[in-house]
Amino acid sequence: MLGPVILAASRSDRMRRLISAAPVTKQVVDRFIAGEDVDDVVPVVRKLTGRGLELTMDVVGEDITNPAQAAAARDAYLELIDRLKPLELGTRAEMSVKLSMFGQALDGGHDMALANVRPVVEAAAEIGTTVTLDAEDHTTLDSMFAIHEELRKDFPQTGCVIQAYLFRTEADARRLAANGSRVRLVKGAYKEPASVAYQDKHEIDKAYVRVLRTLMDGEGYPMIGSHDPRLIAIAQELGRHAGRKPDEYEFQMLYGIRGEEQLRLTAEGYRVRVYTAYGTDWYGYFMRRLAEKPANLRFFVRSMITK
Ligand code: FDA
Repeated sequence: MLGPVILAASRSDRMRRLISAAPVTKQVVDRFIAGEDVDDVVPVVRKLTGRGLELTMDVVGEDITNPAQAAAARDAYLELIDRLKPLELGTRAEMSVKLSMFGQALDGGHDMALANVRPVVEAAAEIGTTVTLDAEDHTTLDSMFAIHEELRKDFPQTGCVIQAYLFRTEADARRLAANGSRVRLVKGAYKEPASVAYQDKHEIDKAYVRVLRTLMDGEGYPMIGSHDPRLIAIAQELGRHAGRKPDEYEFQMLYGIRGEEQLRLTAEGYRVRVYTAYGTDWYGYFMRRLAEKPANLRFFVRSMITK
């Protein structure tokens, strides 16, 4: 029951100001956010890749209000890519982007987001890596998929995310699996109405398995974005059944969540990519992590009270 309340708070400016200013917030935020700037995050990249993990890097931010912020977001990714270049990691460090941060919700936002994301995809390709477009709330997805298709004309490795909780996703998965795309499948992290999304956890899990089967049986590269042990085991089984080798799909988990499981799967020969978020505009990202697990919220509140 707490999840939807926290997700509603994640869109409230008042809550954003209150929570961001609380002095104890930082220690809880640090569990999920790898640092404030690129200087903080490069050592994290070295550490995780040194342990055999791969990364997808997210400069946090979303819901911007003017084109200058969208251009600044683009430049933050370009700076990151520039700093990754000497590490020569290729696809071991890719980027994840939220198109809302590139201006998608502003006037003329679809074209603005495409114009801002293209140089990031180009720069990523120059250092031998790629970009995945995150999935945000359902109203943004037609635009996201159109931008994905456009980028794939020149950069076929560009990936996208689909969310099992949405009714539309089974059809999206069939299309993407048939055209050979890289696709990250997640349960879904936004507050969506019953008219477009399953509300029941069990229904969402069942949809996840149906979509996963489509991806595993298809022509593309499935990326299993989940910490759920049952779904991870099912993915391994479906991968075997589809005749895929362990490096013909990958697992993805968030920085700060189930670190031991990430290493265990790596040791078993699976590719594991850690979604590593950093930056100062962490509020929306952080609140979604609280909503996913009420125990995180209890820890957060306790640390506020005991300080
Ligand atoms: P579930 O929530 O059932 O969690 C399974 C177990 O994992 C829990 O019991 C707990 O042990 C652990 N766990 C999960 N979340 C935790 C948390 N926040 N804190 C502590 N422990 C936690 N969503 C979206 O809408 N668009 C997107 O683009 C993305 N991108 C994305 C990338 C990657 C790599 C991942 C892993 C996830 C996303 N998500 C996302 C988020 C996703 O939709 C979903 O909200 C979370 O992954 C939680 O769902 P699980 O599948 O992990 O299962």
